This record gives sequence, C-alpha cells and structure tokens, in this order.
Amino acid sequence: MQMNNSNVILIGFMGTGKSSVGKALAERLGWTFIDSDYVIEQQERRSIPDIFAQEGEAYFREVEHQVIRQLLTESGQVVATGGGAVLRHDNQALMLNGGLVVALTASPSEILLRVKKDGDQRPLLQGNAEDKISVLLESRKHAYDFAHTSIDTTNLSIEQIVTAILNEHANEQG
Ligand code: S3P
Repeated sequence: MQMNNSNVILIGFMGTGKSSVGKALAERLGWTFIDSDYVIEQQERRSIPDIFAQEGEAYFREVEHQVIRQLLTESGQVVATGGGAVLRHDNQALMLNGGLVVALTASPSEILLRVKKDGDQRPLLQGNAEDKISVLLESRKHAYDFAHTSIDTTNLSIEQIVTAILNEHANEQG
C-alpha cells in the first residue's frame, strides 16, 4: 500500500459508528482522535446545521475539503470523517494517501436506530429520516468502495470493531 502518512481514516454513512469507534481506536493506539465535523464547527464557530442553513451544502463541502487536506498533513491520528466527505474524488485521493482508509457500514434499520439515539441534528436527514436514509444510501451505494478495507458494524460491539481495525493495521505494517 502506497501512502505518505500514517493515520487511520474512518469513512462511512451517517450512523455507522465512525466517532465512537474512532475514539476507542485512538485510545488503543495512543493516537490523537480527530472528528472532521468537529474541526469544521470549531473553525466556523457555528454548528453544521447552521452552516448548511446559512451557506448551503456546497460551502460546507469546500470547508470540509480544506479541513481534511490540512488534517492529513499530520500522522498518528485516527480521523473520523463526515458521511459525505467521500463524494469528492480529491478527498478520496487525500485519504488514500493519508493512511489506512476503513469503511464502516451498517444496515439501514441499524443506521436509523443509531441516528435517532444520538438525537439527530443532521441537515440531510431532517423530515422523514427513514426515507432520507434509504434514498441517500442508494445514491451513495458505491461511494465508500475505495477504502482499503470495510467492516459491517451492524452486529458488532465497538470493541470488536476496534480489534478488527487493529488487525488490519498490524497486517498493513507487515
Ligand atoms: C453528512 C454527514 C455528517 C455531516 C453532515 C453531512 C453527509 O457527518 O458531515 O451532516 O453528507 O453524510 P456524520 O457522518 O458524522 O453524521
């Protein structure tokens, strides 16, 4: 695998566990955990729903791109990305070059449960979340395929997912 920096980058649809898994994984590796959505909110001094409402999605995607580009100049981080960060091919290239890219997946019903549980504020799921999830999942069917590896988290605990990623990471180190 040809990559310049050593990070673990978590990608996947909303509600697939990127943040929870990322935090636990970073702890196990003794690495820094960074959530790109959190960095965007800090930088913009407003919430993601506010950015979408006030500036629109295209603006958000541009800030997201700049943040990911900046974050991946460093090493030794577990980076959780927003579910739509993979939509730009330049982001995909940055991620593949920045470390081990791990895609997390989950069934549509599990995604619905998880986003409801975390008190969903996501602009793209407002209204009928179940319908929105189904439409977006279909349109992003292959968006996460570029990852080095993929894990279906539907029936796994955070600990099991972390162990699976640590194994992949160890294999990659040779
Ligand atoms: C988005 C996912 C969100 C956040 C924004 C857009 C998407 O992140 O970046 O609401 O397009 O899938 P999470 O995947 O962390 O929920």
